[in-house]
Amino acid sequence: MRDIVLQDSTFKQLSDFVYEKTGIFVPPSKKYLFENRLINLIKEKNFKGFDEYLYYIKYNSNGRDLSRLFDAITTNETYFFREPQQMDVFIDEIVPRVVQGRTKDIRIWSAACSTGEEPYTLAMMLMEKRGDVRADILASDISDKALESARRATYNSYSIRNVPELYLKKYFRINGQDYELIRPVKAMVRFKNINLIDEKEVGKINSMDVIFCRNVLIYFGDKAKQQTVSLLYDCLKPGGFLFIGSSESLHNITRAFRPMTINRVIVYQKV
Ligand SMILES: C[S@@+](CC[C@H](N)C(=O)[O-])C[C@H]1O[C@@H](n2cnc3c(N)ncnc32)[C@H](O)[C@@H]1O
Repeated sequence: MRDIVLQDSTFKQLSDFVYEKTGIFVPPSKKYLFENRLINLIKEKNFKGFDEYLYYIKYNSNGRDLSRLFDAITTNETYFFREPQQMDVFIDEIVPRVVQGRTKDIRIWSAACSTGEEPYTLAMMLMEKRGDVRADILASDISDKALESARRATYNSYSIRNVPELYLKKYFRINGQDYELIRPVKAMVRFKNINLIDEKEVGKINSMDVIFCRNVLIYFGDKAKQQTVSLLYDCLKPGGFLFIGSSESLHNITRAFRPMTINRVIVYQKV
């Protein structure tokens, strides 16, 4: 089965299809990604090769098949307290600006949350440092498998490697070899499947104070990046804030946001 060859022309059509459905751009140099990640789907359905799979997924597939494709082709790497400087700027600088002079409510969206470590980090930090603030945290991803794992909220020692001792003791309980988040933290986050390039789905989201969209736009093609960032802009309240991954940039993508540097972290503000 491993001998199945992915022809360049089939690769191109698969890559176009994936781009159209997800915004993820897989260049020819990464053909191996499809070869490695789709082989199990092909085996399961007893397809003779990538051609047959391509035809099926384009013309005969259902929602479940697409969901399996999204699970297979997405990269879900994440961990708690990732890019901690950004998290500190969020809690120490952005939260006070948002709740300043009005109600203590804050609406946060972790767009592309993968298995949940990012929104749960925000939830724990808010509980620990801003117990006075009422937070509504929406977390979304295109991968159902990642979301299932996020809802379970049970992690292995690798995922929790950056969690400070205080948080580990206070917000997790040990369950065999695993670490399970305590109920109040879980209860702060609601999960939903949202495809960031789906205008209709993203269009339902509005009045966010802060959006985290970290380490996902790097996988997108330019047009999908521009479209997504423009949709995210519309989801924010005027003056709302966007965090992207620290290795990412909105240079050449949009000039709609005002970039601000706070403690060496770039935060984009809706003007
Ligand atoms: C590398 S993870 C980033 C997780 C987290 N934001 C972080 O920085 O640790 C990228 C996530 O983006 C999700 N993703 C990719 N394309 C997407 C799309 N079109 N809509 C929503 N999520 C998407 C993937 O499923 C994956 O879980």
